[in-house]
Amino acid sequence: MSTTRDDANRGFLEDALRTLGTIPRSVPSKYLYDEHGSQLFEQICQLDEYYLTRTEAVILRDCADEVAERMGEGCLLIEYGSGSSTKTRILLDRAPALAAYVPIDISREFLMQSAESLSARYPSLDVRPVCADYTGDYELPKLDPAESRRVVWFPGSTIGNLTPGEATAFLAHVTVVAGHGGGLLIGVDLHKDARTLEAAYDDAQGVSAEFALNLLDRMNRELGADFRREDFGYHAAYDEREKRIEMAIVSRSDQRVRIDGREFALAAGERIRTEYSYKYTLEGFAELARGAGLDVERVWTDSESLFSVQYLVVA
Ligand code: AVI
Repeated sequence: MSTTRDDANRGFLEDALRTLGTIPRSVPSKYLYDEHGSQLFEQICQLDEYYLTRTEAVILRDCADEVAERMGEGCLLIEYGSGSSTKTRILLDRAPALAAYVPIDISREFLMQSAESLSARYPSLDVRPVCADYTGDYELPKLDPAESRRVVWFPGSTIGNLTPGEATAFLAHVTVVAGHGGGLLIGVDLHKDARTLEAAYDDAQGVSAEFALNLLDRMNRELGADFRREDFGYHAAYDEREKRIEMAIVSRSDQRVRIDGREFALAAGERIRTEYSYKYTLEGFAELARGAGLDVERVWTDSESLFSVQYLVVA
């Protein structure tokens, strides 16, 4: 069933009213990514403090041959949240003859553009874009032979934005998609000192703050809310016990905000959580994956053990 703009807006309004009305207040992180939010996230990926993107690329360059060997000839490579597929090019440059590459992304325009440019760069590669929310139901393209090995590629430590319960459910869903003999290649950010992490999520230029506060502009524009930007700040802190960065918009004063006729009273210092970003130890992630039916077969890290790329198989 296709989703109209009105449906999407209604979904956003319902989610915002529910999560802002529940203490502690929050807004689902998927709403951070409107057009401007997506551009800001691209900027975050280039920041000196945000080590994740460049470190994952370094690891991929080092392990691409071994990954290619594990995937094997005739593999179906499925990428979740493919965006511009930038990092995937590192894999595709070294990949064996694939049955097909299936990039899945919710943003149709972005998906089609990058599928086109990949087809131009890899003329013999069968690129089959699927516009869908990969956490929901979608159909994989029919291929011949139908039974090629499937490997799901989930880069960027996006798994970290899920709670452990959500991550387990997500990984269990991956086992169904990958099927018997299938695999998961995944980028997982690692637990480390709070200073490095807090700098990565609250950078000196203020791009991370802007990324979170953009959510207020989006709610004003799309939901008719009346947030005053100047009355809010940004906070990011690492909770060592939970091993997660918590990012939040902070009310600078006692104030009232209206959305669609509903009023919210915010106290000075009160937070609206925008995101969690969980960090894992290698043992912790292996345990989580095992609970979802996946065994870690190989882990690659950088020289400082900041980040990991892992290959898991369906148990
Ligand atoms: C998309 N995701 C992996 C990012 C992260 O590192 O958790 C989102 C992000 N939010 C602020 N900075 C980065």
